[in-house]
Amino acid sequence: MKGLISMGFLLYTKDSIHFCISYIDICLFNIDIFLQLFELFLRYPPKIFLHFKKNIFYIDGSACRAIINFINQKDHGLFPSHIIGTHFQSHFKGGLFMERVFNFSAGPSMLPLEVLEQAQKEFVCYGSSGMSVMEMSHRSKVFEGILEKAQADLRDLMHIPDNYKILFLQGGGSTQFAMIPLNLMNKNNKADYVVTGQWAKKAAEEAARYGKVNIVASSADTTFDRIPELDESKFDKHADYFYITLNNTIYGTRWTKLPNVGDVPLVGDMSSSILSEEIDITKFGLLFAGAQKNLGPAGVTVVIIREDLLGNAMDFTPTMLKYDIHAKNNSLYNTPPTYGIYFMGRVFEWVKAQGGVAAMQKRNEEKAALLYDFLDSSALFRGTVQKKDRSLMNVPFVLPTEELNAKFIKEAGEKSFVNLKGHRTVGGMRASIYNAMPKEGVEALVAFMKQFEAENK
Ligand SMILES: Cc1ncc(COP(=O)(O)O)c(C=O)c1O
Repeated sequence: MKGLISMGFLLYTKDSIHFCISYIDICLFNIDIFLQLFELFLRYPPKIFLHFKKNIFYIDGSACRAIINFINQKDHGLFPSHIIGTHFQSHFKGGLFMERVFNFSAGPSMLPLEVLEQAQKEFVCYGSSGMSVMEMSHRSKVFEGILEKAQADLRDLMHIPDNYKILFLQGGGSTQFAMIPLNLMNKNNKADYVVTGQWAKKAAEEAARYGKVNIVASSADTTFDRIPELDESKFDKHADYFYITLNNTIYGTRWTKLPNVGDVPLVGDMSSSILSEEIDITKFGLLFAGAQKNLGPAGVTVVIIREDLLGNAMDFTPTMLKYDIHAKNNSLYNTPPTYGIYFMGRVFEWVKAQGGVAAMQKRNEEKAALLYDFLDSSALFRGTVQKKDRSLMNVPFVLPTEELNAKFIKEAGEKSFVNLKGHRTVGGMRASIYNAMPKEGVEALVAFMKQFEAENK
């Protein structure tokens, strides 16, 4: 008997193995042979385990060899000959499946594997809705449930008091650079900014289009290798707000002590540190973060705003850029980034399952210490940031020459340590070790750096 089938491929999860019939070329095949292949799967119960050191899924070797041998028999007619040895081998790689690299990208960056797998399971049908979250009306009960659960979990995780609104917006961190002055520079038309890197500089430049910007301090003179010392006499008591970037993604610095701003609302960009360490929300009037580092896929921007700051936007502010419009409509004024909100909600649940933000902070401190301790003891590698202000999330470092930097990045890439190239203004390397990076990933990187040092002394 002959049947029609599209090319198959194998999908592995931690506890299951699926043969998916959903791939490229359509071909005729012999149903008996297909059943034989299926029988092979049954005969070799999938002994799959997660190899934590490399985040790679393996299948038991003997089962794998049997399946590869079977597929590579060119005469069984299951797959067209031009496909045998191409697509399948790229999936099989001699027993290695679904290889995930150690991704040190600054953003978008790695996401928790558990959440990716859960999203994969729910991709086509969410719960009993019979549809993907992407296909769902944002006005439906199911989606409202997703949104409200995400808000409640974030409130819980960050201990956000009731007099703060949580908004899920679009436009990334960069749109906040304009929304903040448009909505908050509303009494005296001026604000204080501390310039600790490119993002703070961009925020200050954007704000200067709408009012007077007072640069209280900057660390530009030393390529932003520190949080600058603050002279409180330079603070403007009549500023409409005081702006800081809590973690500086490019330069690898973070505020460990907040400035004393009195009654002036403190505004914080926590795009690259949200949920990585405990923070006292009540010290802030507004906090924001793009999702693409610690929260989920790019596309959602979280804004946490104290209620008394709502409702006084400049007259010409576009409706979509008014916080109060989004607050009144519970982030449903227009179509929000629905899939991003769903995914972020799953990340919040994951953070809760890890023990919450305090547990994440402990883990992040341990991870960062592994790298910093090595950098401090190394005769070859050097961290670029002043110790007191070191970030837990982004760790920039350099080697003595450009040639060595390039060699390191190339050899690291060959060992599956990717996206380690530093920002062009700092050079060298930067390892971004957000919440989703397991400790094992940092340990493996440090082991590789030690080996590199021994070979390049
Ligand atoms: C600290 C910080 N703020 C703002 C931004 C800009 O975010 P977006 O690209 O979402 O506009 C970034 C981007 O990496 C960032 O790291």
